[in-house]
Amino acid sequence: MRRALELAHTGWGCTHPNPMVGALIAEAGRIVGEGSHAQDGGPHAERLALLARGKPPRPGATLYVTLEPCSTPGRTGACTDAIISSGIRHVVVGATDPNPAHAGRGFAVLRAAGVEVTTGVLAKECEDLNLIFNHWITAGSPLLAVKSAVTLDGSIACRTGDSKWITGEAARADVMNWRRLFPAIAVGAGTVMRDNPQLTARLPDLAPWCPVRFVFDGLLRTVTDKNLPQVYADAYRERTIVVTTQHGGMGYVRKLRELGVQVWCLPSPAQRVNFSDFRRKCAEERICGVFFEGGPQLTSQLLRERQIDYLFVYHAPVLLADGKGRSMLTGLRTERLLDAVRLTDVQHSILGDDTLTRGRVKYPERMFADETVFGLG
Ligand SMILES: NC(=O)c1ccc[n+]([C@@H]2O[C@H](COP(=O)([O-])OP(=O)(O)OC[C@H]3O[C@@H](n4cnc5c(N)ncnc54)[C@H](OP(=O)(O)O)[C@@H]3O)[C@@H](O)[C@H]2O)c1
Repeated sequence: MRRALELAHTGWGCTHPNPMVGALIAEAGRIVGEGSHAQDGGPHAERLALLARGKPPRPGATLYVTLEPCSTPGRTGACTDAIISSGIRHVVVGATDPNPAHAGRGFAVLRAAGVEVTTGVLAKECEDLNLIFNHWITAGSPLLAVKSAVTLDGSIACRTGDSKWITGEAARADVMNWRRLFPAIAVGAGTVMRDNPQLTARLPDLAPWCPVRFVFDGLLRTVTDKNLPQVYADAYRERTIVVTTQHGGMGYVRKLRELGVQVWCLPSPAQRVNFSDFRRKCAEERICGVFFEGGPQLTSQLLRERQIDYLFVYHAPVLLADGKGRSMLTGLRTERLLDAVRLTDVQHSILGDDTLTRGRVKYPERMFADETVFGLG
């Protein structure tokens, strides 16, 4: 199964909105065929593993697959049919298909045909691999994730805005890896004006990679006559989408479009976009995950609107020791620990001297912002 997971990983960032899946066939403990799902609409890993075997597997062969085989025809035919007709009599599965319409159905179909099915092998790893797909298929909306890099005393930048770099090289490379996974990255206008980021994934031995790049800018403050931010001027500018309101001004919208930059003008009574509208629009466009990279205003608004599904926080062993340093969140207030936001399904990684804590966001019944109670309380 570990090898099947490695195979699944080869689809990192390329299979959306489908999951990453790896499969292999073993005969007498020897791998004789391997496959992985490479892209949406492409052949499934199980079929490719069978194809790679080149002939019917020997009696006693076992198929290992990281995700429950599909049991509906879809675009590529049911994998359960392919497995049954191959003659394989033992299938070992990592994660159950999270889609409530399918969960467990593939196992039942195989068992009904006399195939022995072993489930739950390295299940956690196999589920974690598809955290975007799992959310997309169960919630029908994109996974909105936030990443922040903070000092031990909770700062993301000095009072001057200086934030390069809080974390070390290993943590920054890890961020690149997540950028490579998510189909879209998002930042606020403040970060674009302050840091002028490229928002591409730059990993050793791989060509630069540019996901969709969202810039949240309700008033189009980032559009200037000279010194345009690089996300509006570089070779990938057609992958930049500015998310704004009708208050931004049609002249600026025109200018962006002339540059080749896309604009989503979402109706809003205020100068800020409502994140549930943004979420809906992403779902319409089949963008199944967005990796928000701060800063504090964007992150805090998302949290206030209960729109963060998943959080990545990198901690660096640094004390900024400045009462006016900028913290990860701003303008929020919580008076009881009972009302704190918590993470579930928590994972920790050590990256050089830094650590990454990530997990699903669990909201309390009520939350506070400034003096106003908001949320469901
Ligand atoms: N350590 C880290 O992980 C990290 C990550 C990113 C950034 N940073 C740092 O954070 C600082 C910038 O943070 P910031 O809080 O000033 O800026 P920010 O959160 O990047 O951007 C805030 C701006 O984005 C626009 N915006 C936010 N929500 C919006 C919405 N719903 N609809 C439309 N527009 C929206 C608003 O523009 P208007 O005000 O014009 O409406 C708002 O002022 C920089 O110092 C940067 O280096 C640190």
